[in-house]
Amino acid sequence: MNRFAIPRLFQKASYATKSLLPNKTIKTLLKEDADQVSVRGWVRSVRKQKQVSFATINDGSNLKGIQAILNEKDAQLLTTGACVELQGALIASPGKEQSKELQVNHIKVLGECDTTYPLQKKRHTNEFLRSIGHLRMRGNTGSAVLRVRNAASEGIRDFFREQEFILTNTPILTSHDCEGGGEVFKITPIDSKEPTEFFKKPVYLTVSGQLHAEIMASAMSRVYTFGPTFRAEESLTSRHLAEFWMLEAEMAFIDDLQPLLDVTEGSVQQTTRHVLDTCSDDLAFFNQWVDKSLLERLHKSVDKPFVRMTYTEAIEVLQKVQEKDKNRFKYPTTWGSSLQSEHERYLASEYCQQPVFVTDYPADLKPFYMRANEDGKTVGCFDLLLPGIGELVGGSMREERYGILEQKMKDAKMNMEDYQWYLDLRKYGSAPHGGYGIGFERLLLWLTGLENVREVIPMPRWVGSCKF
Ligand code: 4AD
Repeated sequence: MNRFAIPRLFQKASYATKSLLPNKTIKTLLKEDADQVSVRGWVRSVRKQKQVSFATINDGSNLKGIQAILNEKDAQLLTTGACVELQGALIASPGKEQSKELQVNHIKVLGECDTTYPLQKKRHTNEFLRSIGHLRMRGNTGSAVLRVRNAASEGIRDFFREQEFILTNTPILTSHDCEGGGEVFKITPIDSKEPTEFFKKPVYLTVSGQLHAEIMASAMSRVYTFGPTFRAEESLTSRHLAEFWMLEAEMAFIDDLQPLLDVTEGSVQQTTRHVLDTCSDDLAFFNQWVDKSLLERLHKSVDKPFVRMTYTEAIEVLQKVQEKDKNRFKYPTTWGSSLQSEHERYLASEYCQQPVFVTDYPADLKPFYMRANEDGKTVGCFDLLLPGIGELVGGSMREERYGILEQKMKDAKMNMEDYQWYLDLRKYGSAPHGGYGIGFERLLLWLTGLENVREVIPMPRWVGSCKF
């Protein structure tokens, strides 16, 4: 025997499949073949009838929860919103809605619910649900969003693990404005007289982990980070939050955009597939109540490659449309101008009718770090545009040539001292590399059919609102 081997007795047990908690979730109970069970959850609704009463109990583990059958006396104890423990027999259900139901023989109310409970069984507007953010996950939309959010993160992690990327963490506090947009939140200790006192320099909440991810990719080759990012966006749109989550991948040893687009497409498609495979009830719910084309659109998007076109080609397409109808777009479609949401939507929703990569934008429209193309006018970058949503991903090859990068930074009037480490990466074994960032809440709009990013993050923050 190998003398370094750990004796069996001291080896850690595998907890991979065994739950360590005393109670089982409703999702698991419904799958197992148990007879007598105990269910814990919150009462969604109670229907009191003469002979028997019905209650729906939900613990967040699935969409429908479980239907409980009780006598009239027991049903008096249950009110919508109460937290309960029900014991009884799990029996085959005669109804079509669920395969099993709970014949209750014992009730314990763990937490009573006041009659002012605002979430009654009826349709509420998204605005109202947002105003009760501490309770909205007790409803179908709020809880389905959280399960899809979870499945999407799982899909992302599976994809990157399979592609041999390392998950890393980039700082939240930073002294850089990666995107150069000036939409940064400044950090100051509450009792500080001088805004720069604590760090002896201005420090902000990060707008992107990219520059730090580049440090790690310069040693580990393939990294990704998944964390909160912050932008002091003044615009009140359905696509912008002040705090949102971004998945950022950075990879060394790619020579041009094509492998970067392949990885981006793979990550979006595999995540979508994972959600389709693991959240079928939730997606069916969104398909029925939110967006009737959801399932068809998602299946179509994982079946075929996304369209790829250059910015120059996109401008040609838009100009042809404008030639036919000069009022079609509000903003100009001349080469060199930004693609506005109306243009992005036209390209993805009408022209391609599927996700489309637009690549190689004019250098003047993009941040300093993007790699200059041979033509001297454009940079090796891309946006991924989705039908109905617009931009989901932004990414690029990074300028890895010291002299060219230094010049770009000087032209952008950046503080060279602050970014010396970024330039140093180009001095000490510079590698051709690139990366991208997926706006996680926008991905969730795609996966649920919901229309506003405020609906797909548990506690949304936007200009003028930071409740809960
Ligand atoms: O295009 P952006 O600004 O790219 C970057 O920040 C790069 N540094 C990422 C990288 O290459 N590592 O942002 C990336 C994505 C956008 O495509 C969009 O989906 C999302 O982040 N996004 C927002 N989502 C919600 N609210 C906002 N205010 C957002 N701003 C950007």
